[in-house]
Amino acid sequence: MKAPEMKKDLFAHKSKSWDMNSRRVKNAEAIAETIVRNIPLHPNIHLLDLGAGTGLLSYYLAQKVGKITALDNSPSMLAEFAAKRPEFVCETEILEGDIMQLPIETRYDGIVSSMTIHHIEDIPALLEKLYTILKPDGFIALADLEQEDGTFHSDNTGVYHYGFDTAQLAEMAEKAGFEDVAVHHAGTITKPHREFGVFLLTGRRSADPINKI
Ligand SMILES: C[S@@+](CC[C@H](N)C(=O)[O-])C[C@H]1O[C@@H](n2cnc3c(N)ncnc32)[C@H](O)[C@@H]1O
Repeated sequence: MKAPEMKKDLFAHKSKSWDMNSRRVKNAEAIAETIVRNIPLHPNIHLLDLGAGTGLLSYYLAQKVGKITALDNSPSMLAEFAAKRPEFVCETEILEGDIMQLPIETRYDGIVSSMTIHHIEDIPALLEKLYTILKPDGFIALADLEQEDGTFHSDNTGVYHYGFDTAQLAEMAEKAGFEDVAVHHAGTITKPHREFGVFLLTGRRSADPINKI
């Protein structure tokens, strides 16, 4: 029998120096602040950080919640997250795998994400999966780039979306069953050749699980 094909770790060459880029650190902090402004967080909350990477977003949110599960399909990025675990002020857990493939039994109070969903091809399927792994009344808070011209990354390997049309994305979230869907401005990343807007999409699973469209 043929062994299952191992997917390449697309972040292996970047993981060690990931946190040394001050633009990334500032962007994660701005996203965390936008989440905190728009969603009431408390110490009983268990968050899933989708595409947590080295933990830039988790680090800021750790002060506000009880537990964060860091999900990522890059072992090298998760190794950096693991090295920082002692600095996190909440409980942490690491889950290695592709969000679209992993069977996930846990139900989370919230799912946050920073700069990850442009790496995921099928966004409607992703939103449906996120809906199913939330507790009733659980929330999503997904940050990524507004539509761009393909020049944000110097190498677009593994990039399925050049940012997002936020109105279309909000519609997809509603189709997946999310309520109170909203798009917030979460910051601007300035690169030498142009600026890139960053949005935060929020939405809530119905409090009544039967009420799914
Ligand atoms: C641009 S990095 C962002 C990392 C971190 N959230 C941050 O803001 O610094 C995208 C991360 O998403 C992860 N990722 C991409 N596709 C994924 C998938 N299908 N399932 C889980 N993680 C994924 C990558 O391995 C990478 O760590």
